[in-house]
Amino acid sequence: MSMIRTDFLVIGSGIAGLTFAVKTARKFPDKTVTILTKANTDETNTKYAQGGIAVVNDLENDSYNKHIDDTLVAGDGLCNRTIVDLVVKEGPDRVNEIIEWGARFDKDVAGDFMRGKEGGHSENRILHHKDITGFEIERALVEEAKQCGNIHIHNHWFVLDLITQHHLGYLVTKGTPDITCYGVYALNTLTKSVEKILAKCTLLASGGVGQVYRTTTNPRIATGDGIAMAYRAKARIESMEFIQFHPTALYEAGVSPSFLVTEAVRGDGGILRNKDGEAFMLTYDARADLAPRDVVARAIDSEMKRTGTEHVYLDCRHMDMERFHEHFPNIQAHCLSIGIDVARQMIPVAPAAHYCCGGVKTNEYGRSSIRNLYACGECASTGLHGANRLASNSLLEALVFAHRCAEDVASAIDKLDYCDAVPDWNASGTTEPKEMILITQSLKEVQLIMSDYVGIVRNDVRLERAMSRIDLLHNEAEELYKAATLSPQLCELRNLITIGYLIVKSAQFRKESRGLHYNTDYPQKSELLQQIVL
Ligand code: FAD
Ligand code: SIN
Repeated sequence: MSMIRTDFLVIGSGIAGLTFAVKTARKFPDKTVTILTKANTDETNTKYAQGGIAVVNDLENDSYNKHIDDTLVAGDGLCNRTIVDLVVKEGPDRVNEIIEWGARFDKDVAGDFMRGKEGGHSENRILHHKDITGFEIERALVEEAKQCGNIHIHNHWFVLDLITQHHLGYLVTKGTPDITCYGVYALNTLTKSVEKILAKCTLLASGGVGQVYRTTTNPRIATGDGIAMAYRAKARIESMEFIQFHPTALYEAGVSPSFLVTEAVRGDGGILRNKDGEAFMLTYDARADLAPRDVVARAIDSEMKRTGTEHVYLDCRHMDMERFHEHFPNIQAHCLSIGIDVARQMIPVAPAAHYCCGGVKTNEYGRSSIRNLYACGECASTGLHGANRLASNSLLEALVFAHRCAEDVASAIDKLDYCDAVPDWNASGTTEPKEMILITQSLKEVQLIMSDYVGIVRNDVRLERAMSRIDLLHNEAEELYKAATLSPQLCELRNLITIGYLIVKSAQFRKESRGLHYNTDYPQKSELLQQIVL
């Protein structure tokens, strides 16, 4: 076992982690910034972002107030108004910064940005790089990070747990004052040894939880590790009942993760149709195909149940194909690769788990409830999204909060120190698991339970049933964890079970239907506006 000391520790190499790392490394060239990531550097949700980044940078045709209102409407009463204000207003400067770092967004022949539209937006304001915006942003950020000599990236290091007073032998509960983060234990999956990383300050930027569902747009890395380890460390976790299902993931039976067909396709004129070819969205909402995501996903779910089908269709046949090819070349090519010519055939689509609106509760500087622990990006709950995230607000939120975290910690770092009393990881008494099937089967079970009982439409009986099944899986996984040598698969299973628990528990507490949480036993909104914090 070796030990690393680093001034700044960053868990995750997506837009949140890399932006924070670059800013911090530039500000403190004499200090070390260590990034741990459990896969290759660029294997992140960020890399798969398609539609783009919502930002007001054309004040002649758009306004901050409109973007603020759109975010509040989508959030269905639960957004934190202060946070919405600051994200929308600080957003343009943050987007300009990554443009300076080399991220390219599409422009027209006159050199003006091309602005796309997505559900819930009253104006065209989505900057994009064709239909691979995330790939372009990740590319630019990785290159920028590599230019900073004081950033050290460790790929394939799986962070196991946040280190707090608990690891020094103290009893830590949610009520313990001043719980402090001293760093992490991480499994170097190449050497199979557990390393101790001591840090003065730690940023959780570990992304989403999509893999807790059977059908998701999220890549394999999205197993909610950061949120689960923060919960184990007794951080406050908020709003986990609000899981966003993207309405239009490509329907391909048995393929996981699902390929996304960006909402920007509907922004450009794509129309949802049921199996009988009827454009059904207007019967559900006056905003039709461009209603906020929760509304569209629920409408599709209801249409699929009504007609007994596994998917609906996205019709692009009437669209200008030259323009389609220019904006969505990747989608067009992917569809063609499975035999769908979008100019002649409709695209089969179905909702898939896409985004976690909740996560580690943070304040306006990205501070969690644990000292010296920040959270940013999809793993954080800043209050921006409320009960439902507005399309393309996630990349923006990550940029704004990475900056805020970097500014906040900059004023504190010289007063922070390492905790040398942290013991090495104790792996005694564990042996290689004899049967991987115990892990893989439990994983499938969690995903099935969540998809069947805790999906777009919920009710009390289903939630209760989900909770008792998850409880059983939790007990089995804990037995395995105590006895088996650690592997990423086992740790991810354990984390996904925790995520399932957090989603179900939060959903059980919310006795109303609001935003992404729809419970048929309480179809109305409650008068009481409350956040569920666990
Ligand atoms: P990520 O980019 O997911 O990065 C997470 C990092 O944490 C990874 O490096 C991972 O390896 C690391 N990590 C996780 N667990 C561990 C661990 N245990 N140990 C070590 N490292 C760990 N949002 C928009 O605003 N606009 C869009 O157009 C858009 N399109 C999307 C399309 C798709 C298909 C998907 C999946 C999402 C989309 N989103 C979009 C959402 C957005 O991409 C994500 O919310 C955002 O990129 C998350 O960034 P992040 O930095 O928080 O996390
Ligand atoms: C999409 O391109 O439809 C995804 C946008 C988002 O998740 O914000």
